Order: sequence, then structure tokens, then C-alpha cells
Amino acid sequence: MAEEATLPHPAGNIASEPTPTQQAASPDAAQGPTAAQEGDGVEDMSDVSHDGDEDPAALEIDDDRDSGFTGDDGVSTTTSIASSMIRGHIENGRKYNTLRDDYWGPSDDQQFEAMDAGHLLYLMLNSDHHNMLFRSPVSNPGHVLDIGTGPGTWAIDVADKFPEAIVHGVDLYPPPNSWVPPNCYLEVEDVTLEWTWQHRFDLIHMRLMLGAFNDEQWGEVYRQCHDNLNPGGWIEQVELDVRVMCDDGSLPPDSLIAGWGQNFLDCAVRAGRSLATQTTMGSKIERAGFVNVHEQLFKCPIGSWPKNKTFKEAGRINFHHWSSGLDGWAMSLLTKFGAPQPWSADEVRVYVAKVRRELQNPNLHIYHFTRRVWGQKRR
Ligand SMILES: C[S@@+](CC[C@H](N)C(=O)[O-])C[C@H]1O[C@@H](n2cnc3c(N)ncnc32)[C@H](O)[C@@H]1O
Repeated sequence: MAEEATLPHPAGNIASEPTPTQQAASPDAAQGPTAAQEGDGVEDMSDVSHDGDEDPAALEIDDDRDSGFTGDDGVSTTTSIASSMIRGHIENGRKYNTLRDDYWGPSDDQQFEAMDAGHLLYLMLNSDHHNMLFRSPVSNPGHVLDIGTGPGTWAIDVADKFPEAIVHGVDLYPPPNSWVPPNCYLEVEDVTLEWTWQHRFDLIHMRLMLGAFNDEQWGEVYRQCHDNLNPGGWIEQVELDVRVMCDDGSLPPDSLIAGWGQNFLDCAVRAGRSLATQTTMGSKIERAGFVNVHEQLFKCPIGSWPKNKTFKEAGRINFHHWSSGLDGWAMSLLTKFGAPQPWSADEVRVYVAKVRRELQNPNLHIYHFTRRVWGQKRR
């Protein structure tokens, strides 16, 4: 069913499904790829084709290296209070959009920094591919849409790569970029409302939209994607697994990092907006009518521990992604849906500081999974 061959990756990072040797960091983790196989309510992905079948346990550890951890977590201190007050509302020191009060992520300089690091991470992990931006076999797109574009970095890169295309990026708040290519439009819209674009797209992309929608809204978003694509057009979605894993026991099961993922999966269930999007998107995309659905699962190292040069660099970038993202990922969900009762902002800050310190331990050989799904609207 796969349309294009996946190039062999330097260290066999591309996985079809995790093997039993890949331990979930949280011992009682109930969701995710392994749970999906056990049929615990996670939707069946058996019709989805899997690209790449090399052993994902093959991320080799570099024993002979300088520590990639400088102790500088790279957290930006440049957030402008003045612009925060003009746009968005402030909560616990973070700025949030004003269109929807049920989206958990901040929209401020610190979170944009994390999003940009995430963008670099996925470019790096796709550097073996002729197109690092997407896998859909779209070579000459007319119109492209990026849903939840954040700072618009993916949309801008696609506009630069395809100067003949018109690229739209849409989000709940105005993007921080003052300059974008002339063929790129960054717009403010809530995509759960009826779309009003006057033309159809050849590619619709989403990345890291986990927890943005409830089940019904996801169904509607995929329906609108399908309705607004040209026949033969593609949808592509990239989502990460919030659980941190390791294959060699280097992550103590009683560490905060080990419990991190499950903590947020549970918060999201209480919020009614699952963060396990990576396990459900494939079947939802198929249910929306897409065909030729492909899937790729790959490991994203955190820290510079891998031996392979590409993964080492990706791990460094991902460390920065986590370090700058932690506070924003945690604050809203834990202060509203933390257990046994909502946490105070200070409790969240202390937790995040401890997790950040754990992340700086160079002896941890940790990673998380990311899943990419792409599928086509019938011609
Ligand atoms: C985690 S960020 C990911 C940003 C970007 N796609 C990336 O990969 O860096 C998710 C984005 O989705 C946006 N978002 C959430 N709900 C949305 C909605 N209903 N309509 C439009 N954008 C939304 C958020 O504001 C946020 O910028």
C-alpha cells in the first residue's frame, strides 16, 4: 500500500511498531502503540500501511562523547510583557490566545521557541529524505494549508520550497513573524468553525495538534479537510507520544520523567481532549474517507546520547525543545486538571524545574515516539 519507498535511515530509527524491548517509561502506561495492539479501546490501525520495518531498538549510544548538556536550558527570557497585554490573556505568567479558552498551550515567545526547536527536530529526522517537510507525494502543490501553524515556520519553509504555491498557515493568534514570503499567508481562525477558504487545497498539514480537539471536533476537522482538498489531494499529520521511553533501563522507573507522560495523558482525559492523538489519527483519517493511508513511527532522542551524528544533533535539538517547552506544556493542564486536585502554579514550576534537572543527566538514554500519517482523497 505504500506509495513511496522510505530510504534506509542511518540508525534504523524508523519503526513500524514498538517491540516488547521498548519499555514505556511509565510502568502503568495505558495508552500508546503497545496498548493499541492489546485492544484496550485504542482504535485499530491494522489497515494503515507502515513504512519502514527496521528494529527501532537500534539507536546506538555514544559512549565516547562530551556531554551535550551545558546546564544552560536555553529558556528564553525575552517575552515582551507589553505585546502580551495587547494580544491574548495572561495566566500564571504565560500568554494564551483569546479565541478559545479551552486550548492548553500558551502562545508566547517561550512557546514559539519550543515550537521552532520542534520544527528543526523534525527537519533533522527527515534529513535522509529528498523533502524534509512532508512525505505526501505532492511535487507541485497549488494551495497548501497548515492547521495550527504556531509561529508559521513549517508554512514559511513550504512557501520557500514551492514558490509557485500559495501556502496558508492558520492559528488562534497572530503569528510572531513580521516577514513571510509573498506566497505565504498566516491567518487567525478557529478551525473548529466552518471554513471559508474560497479554493481547495492539494495538501493539508497538521503537526503537534494533540489535545486541541475533543473527539467530535476531530471528526469535524477531518471532514473539513476532506471537503476542502482537491480530488487526489493529501492530508498529513505528525503527532508525538508524550511518554518518555528508554530501551536500556537507564531511566529510573521512579523518576519524574518516567511518570511525565502518563501524568499528562490522565490530565487530558479529565479535560476531555485526549493527548493520545498519535494512536487515533490514522483510523480517524481513514474514517473520514481518505485512502492510501501511510504511517511511519520513529524515535526522537532527547539529549546528545546517540552515537549516530544525525541522531546526536536531533537529540541536542530535542533537549532544547523539551527544555523550553516543559513549562508551557505543563502549566495549564496541571493547574486545571492535575490530580489528586488541580496543582498550584508554584507546584507546577517546582515540578518542571525538577524534570528539567533530570533531563540534564547525560546517563539517560531516553526518547519519545513520533508518528506521521499521510493519506489521500480519492480522485
Ligand atoms: C503545539 S502547537 C504546534 C504548532 C506547529 N504546528 C508546530 O508544529 O510547531 C499547536 C497549535 O495549534 C493551535 N490551535 C489549537 N487549536 C486550534 C484551533 N481550534 N484552530 C486553529 N489553531 C489551533 C494552537 O494555538 C497552537 O499554536
